[in-house]
Amino acid sequence: MNVLGISGSLRQASYNTMALRAAQKLAPEGMRIEMADIKAIPLYNDDVRAAGFPDSVTQLEARIRAADAVLLVTPEYNFSIPGVLKNTLDWVSRTPAQPFDGKPVAIMGASPGVVGTARVQYHLRQVLLFLNSFTVNKPEVFISQAASKFSPEGELTDAPTAQAITALLVSLQKLKQRLG
Ligand SMILES: Cc1cc2nc3c(=O)[nH]c(=O)nc-3n(C[C@H](O)[C@H](O)[C@H](O)COP(=O)(O)O)c2cc1C
Repeated sequence: MNVLGISGSLRQASYNTMALRAAQKLAPEGMRIEMADIKAIPLYNDDVRAAGFPDSVTQLEARIRAADAVLLVTPEYNFSIPGVLKNTLDWVSRTPAQPFDGKPVAIMGASPGVVGTARVQYHLRQVLLFLNSFTVNKPEVFISQAASKFSPEGELTDAPTAQAITALLVSLQKLKQRLG
């Protein structure tokens, strides 16, 4: 099973990118997680779209289509979806054969705060509903107080968080099997 992981943070020392890298290592047998980079996606402009999709969007769209499932790992910005991730979803949503349609998707997120991205995850679920994805319902993985759960080198050091990520990936695997 081939999963495409997307981090909703562009910053170098992102906890969410650290969590995605941890997921790569925790992937259950039979699952491989590749990472997509959304740095090159421009700001959505419908005039640009009408003139032709940017290569960065076309390439990402193709990678999402080719993947068996997607793993979105996102920060929470002002209780909602960071602009860079929403912008990426907006671009991909306008591609002719929108690749999130029918795609199994798992969501998780990390925050230095105590709520651990719970609020953004519900906003993301709403967007994915419109895109007709199948999102993993449980477990929900809210990585709170992230500074205490990763080493300075970016390694996940918290066993319960590792267990929760593993459980999420197993649920994603099962959802994919059920959907065929
Ligand atoms: C514009 C902005 C808004 C933020 N709003 C929230 C928020 O609503 N909830 C939260 O838990 N953290 C919030 N934060 C703090 C982020 O969780 C924190 O910067 C986190 O490290 C971002 O994820 P990253 O480490 O993957 O880049 C916000 C940060 C920024 C820059």
